[in-house]
Amino acid sequence: MSNPSSDMTTRAPRFQSHSWLTALQRYVFARTLLEAKLYPPLTREVLFRVYRPDDFGACLTIYRKNEPGRFPESQRSKFEEYLANEEKTLIVAECDSMVVGYGGINLLGQSAATLCYGILEPEFQKQRIGSTLTLLRIALLPTRRCGAFVLIFAVDASMRIYQRFGFVEKGLWKAEDGKDYPIGFLHVPVDSLGRVKSTLAKRRLRIQGEVVLRSTENLSCEVKEGPPGHFRIQVQPRVEPPPPPKIDHKEP
Ligand SMILES: CC(C)(COP(=O)(O)OP(=O)(O)OC[C@H]1O[C@@H](n2cnc3c(N)ncnc32)[C@H](O)[C@@H]1OP(=O)(O)O)[C@@H](O)C(=O)NCCC(=O)NCCS
Repeated sequence: MSNPSSDMTTRAPRFQSHSWLTALQRYVFARTLLEAKLYPPLTREVLFRVYRPDDFGACLTIYRKNEPGRFPESQRSKFEEYLANEEKTLIVAECDSMVVGYGGINLLGQSAATLCYGILEPEFQKQRIGSTLTLLRIALLPTRRCGAFVLIFAVDASMRIYQRFGFVEKGLWKAEDGKDYPIGFLHVPVDSLGRVKSTLAKRRLRIQGEVVLRSTENLSCEVKEGPPGHFRIQVQPRVEPPPPPKIDHKEP
């Protein structure tokens, strides 16, 4: 991945099939495609909280409902492993005490993260819950001068949805089935991140429970600043430093 720059975040276009109010709010308040996803706001009561082990069954059922034609079959066992055993930051959306969706986030570095497993119960899709889950996860990232850099290891069907959030396709990842899938990339400039955070806070949209951001085990990311507004992002496999040498020392 080379030279993604902040000019990828374009002003939100005047909009498609939304109400005139949403189109107006986006035009007036949103400076990036990501911020546009703050409008229209959620209209139903949704509780966002940290995943608990007893959510396993509900999360897997939602995954399986969305799986056909979308996720490679080989990924299901990885997801089960992720749910059951991995240390993770997974945010669950609940309506009327029922888990209706979820989304994970892994840190890649101080200003960079990957989003994973953003999935909604089919009946609850297209009701702004997925947008809110995405915005809440991105809002967990610290406010730093360079903003935030977000990657999604997407599948073909979801890439076009994330493009609406401003993600651009940057390279491919290979799943266990040997096929290549798109990697989505988004730079959130610092002022945009600030507006997302403050709008969520004004709407009292927060994640209940103690959110602990964790790093991916296998990837790391380095952000280097170039000319104003340009950044070089280098994502690479994490290499564990060799263990320190053992020194046996005995006082004479
Ligand atoms: C992707 C997903 C999480 C989005 O959540 P959602 O609650 O349905 O989405 P929202 O209502 O917040 O809408 C977000 C944007 O995506 C668009 N969108 C949602 N579902 C869409 C679909 N099936 N096709 C095209 N666009 C879609 C919406 O129109 C909206 O864009 P807009 O604001 O420009 O109109 C959800 O649809 C889902 O679970 N999809 C199946 C699983 C999947 O592919 N997950 C991604 C894994 S990487």
